[in-house]
Amino acid sequence: MSQFQLNGQSVEVRADDDTPLLWVIRDELRLTGTKFGCGIGMCGACTVHLNGRAIRSCITPVGAVAGQQVTTIEGLSPEGQHPLQQAWVAAQAPQCGYCQPGQIMQAATLLADFPNPSDAEIEAVMAGSLCRCMAYVRIRKAIHLAAE
Ligand code: FES
Repeated sequence: MSQFQLNGQSVEVRADDDTPLLWVIRDELRLTGTKFGCGIGMCGACTVHLNGRAIRSCITPVGAVAGQQVTTIEGLSPEGQHPLQQAWVAAQAPQCGYCQPGQIMQAATLLADFPNPSDAEIEAVMAGSLCRCMAYVRIRKAIHLAAE
């Protein structure tokens, strides 16, 4: 049993403390924007924010977030109006779309650190967020758009 803040609301979950946060979010709390890709912290599909910083929820035990603030793509902005989400649409960044929630959550941390990032800064921070459709050029364009 763990309690934490999810998208601004207090939640109490029944999962064992060592259950990956990803499965608690998807299976117990029924928020499916956060995706499973590799399960070993290597692809970024499961990226959420813990106290405003990007983490990989597939390798984070739910017990480790007790009492803290977790934000998923559903909580990034009401109605999908975050500047990154708007830029993603404007730049037509997704192809299949599967990795995009994780990409956007990682990009939000990038813009918090680098409000007007260079291509090199984007590549350095986004390097661990993999896209099997190879939409990297459009993702980079969307990040630049959001930074404007
Ligand atoms: Fe978590 Fe790939 S599913 S990093």
